[in-house]
Amino acid sequence: MDPERKKRALRTLTYGMVVASAADGEELAAGAVNWISQASFVPPLIMLALRNDSNLQRLAERSQRLAVNVLTRQQKDLAAAFFKPSRVEADRIQGFSFQRGSFSGAAILADAWAWLEARVTDAVKRGDHTVFVAEVVEADIREGDFHPLVMWETGWTYGG
Ligand SMILES: Cc1cc2nc3c(=O)[nH]c(=O)nc-3n(C[C@H](O)[C@H](O)[C@H](O)COP(=O)(O)O)c2cc1C
Repeated sequence: MDPERKKRALRTLTYGMVVASAADGEELAAGAVNWISQASFVPPLIMLALRNDSNLQRLAERSQRLAVNVLTRQQKDLAAAFFKPSRVEADRIQGFSFQRGSFSGAAILADAWAWLEARVTDAVKRGDHTVFVAEVVEADIREGDFHPLVMWETGWTYGG
């Protein structure tokens, strides 16, 4: 396998771009994540891969709970703010207004298009990320004519 062609081949996979969050008591982390997908209808499962060396992974592993914020095409700047370590000041994270989810205690962004809270059912720690499978227990969506933030359209890459 040619490593360069492997990288280019893997980068043809398509993704959205969300802000995932986890909390353990007062401790809170959130990060921009593109390795996420639905994984079952009944029960409603999602799966996401979180970097082993991130606070987000550590808090998801500890609390076994996660929140996911789905973003619109207009929210590229918001997503970019979540590449950096989480900074919480009062009711803002990275400068964006949020509330703690009733189930997860994790960050639900006021401006998210849709949000989910989920209970971790399985975790596979392999390679440099942990794949979490989680059952959606809370969800809501803001009404409006939105277009999702799509990784390919941002020009960013995370994969290869
Ligand atoms: C374009 C892009 C996509 C990313 N996708 C993921 C991802 O799918 N999973 C992940 O764990 N981190 C991903 N990251 C890294 C996180 O956004 C972020 O760096 C990390 O959650 C912050 O680490 P911390 O929790 O230790 O503060 C991505 C970063 C970039 C720039």
